[in-house]
Amino acid sequence: MARPSKVEITEVGPRDGLQAESYFVPTASKIRLINDLIAAGVPRIEFSSFVSPRAVPQLVDVVEVLEGLDRSTDTVLSALVPNAKGAIRACQAGVDEIIVFMSASESHNMKNVNRTVDESLAGFEEVARIAGDAGIPVHGSIATALGCPFEGDVPVKQLEYIARHYKEFGFTGVGLGDTTGMATPPVVQRAVRHLQDTLPGLPIGLHFHNTRGIGLVNVMTGLDEGIDQYDSSFGGMGGCPFAPKATGNICTEDLVYMMHEMGIETGIDLSKLISVAHDVEQVMGRELPGQLMKAGPRLQLHAMDEVATAAG
Ligand code: COA
Ligand code: ZN
Repeated sequence: MARPSKVEITEVGPRDGLQAESYFVPTASKIRLINDLIAAGVPRIEFSSFVSPRAVPQLVDVVEVLEGLDRSTDTVLSALVPNAKGAIRACQAGVDEIIVFMSASESHNMKNVNRTVDESLAGFEEVARIAGDAGIPVHGSIATALGCPFEGDVPVKQLEYIARHYKEFGFTGVGLGDTTGMATPPVVQRAVRHLQDTLPGLPIGLHFHNTRGIGLVNVMTGLDEGIDQYDSSFGGMGGCPFAPKATGNICTEDLVYMMHEMGIETGIDLSKLISVAHDVEQVMGRELPGQLMKAGPRLQLHAMDEVATAAG
């Protein structure tokens, strides 16, 4: 399959990046960071979640955040929703898009949303109705799609089972979430090919975490399979609070850099993105895992007098 010439990158930093942080990022800081992402041309941003504030206190200010965002551009502002209650709140707040989430594995779905897989799916039928009445599109994501920290490998038939429901509910696509970074190139290839074969025409997105250092390698596999939708997080922040050893998403600046170097369009201004990542670092008060924000693009050259000459 030919690699795409253009990809759509969804910035999940404000949601996945922040959801497990114990330091409460002030609402004004969240708004500033997201508006700067919009100004950098990011086409789609998961700006927060409509979940229980007891489960994820960091995202309690979802409505206030949305109220502060610049709605004058084409950037799609998406929020994560686990159930009908979340859908009602999201529609009232006026999001551009709802992203429902559940896990492929029963054990992680129970940990994360306290529901069986079939209970989550039954709830999504209601979400589809609520969002349909409000004219808001729904995208379906699947957590632990490429490996579960409690159960191990996830059968591709299980992904097909959930994605088939998503298609029937009229969702705009399916996102495969590698919640704890268990994906490897063969795992990605198997899952993507199975869904492409069994549910042709259903758009697929990939959501990798760099837990084991091969997040961008998995993106290369996705590109080779023709996938043109990827999630990533500013500075490489991120992780699910209800999964053991969950660490950061693949880093947006690193991903955009790689795409541009490969001649693949993103529509994103990389230097503005790097500035946002530095701002996130300031807000969090610690060094982030992103690489490009430290080294800069490869052709950002240096004056020779910046470094000492080795004395022999
Ligand atoms: N938004 C806000 N509050 C919600 C809600 C939502 N989407 N869904 C349920 N609630 C509230 C209920 O109103 C109820 O409140 P009350 O006790 O004050 O009456 C309470 O939460 C319990 O409701 P219930 O339906 O029994 O939920 P639960 O306790 O079984 O928890 C979830 C289910 C889905 C709400 C909860 O597990 C959750 O929010 N998980 C999100 C996890 C997450 O975001 N993970 C990271 C993303 S991968
Ligand atoms: Zn994630």
